[in-house]
Amino acid sequence: MSSPLPSVLLEQFDALRRQYPPEMKTSLVLPLLHCVQDANGHVTEADAVAIAGYIGMPAIQVIEALTWYSMFDREPQGRYVIKVCRNIACSLRGSERVVAHLQRKLGIGLDETTPDGRFTLRTVECLASCGTAPAMQVNRTYHEQLDEAKLDRILESLP
Ligand code: FES
Repeated sequence: MSSPLPSVLLEQFDALRRQYPPEMKTSLVLPLLHCVQDANGHVTEADAVAIAGYIGMPAIQVIEALTWYSMFDREPQGRYVIKVCRNIACSLRGSERVVAHLQRKLGIGLDETTPDGRFTLRTVECLASCGTAPAMQVNRTYHEQLDEAKLDRILESLP
């Protein structure tokens, strides 16, 4: 089967595969999905099928993992993906205000990307930072105890 995955990714796949015993090859699914997302910013269904072919397992199992976990994006995203926690601790401490402020500042709604491709705004469930709510991630960086002034500083600090 020909793979749509570039050789640089396949080299990373090979390096990961060497870390797993052959009988545990299905454990490669999540690391390989992360590899593709880190490289491309999102993971398509065709990528999942290629990963399944690489591992030698049914494509549906990789597609299920891709669609189950919210940390994988299936569409192109902004350069900065802002994920605001909307779960109970953050909600009690003002996550709705955080979202509303970001929507005003960025001029987009939830699950939208700014026309210049810089920002995508989303809400997510608990980020496991409940003690410092309200919290959000910008890509993989955590920002906590948010208020409007802090949000402005964060946005201004991004290159
Ligand atoms: S409820 Fe927001 S981090 Fe847990």
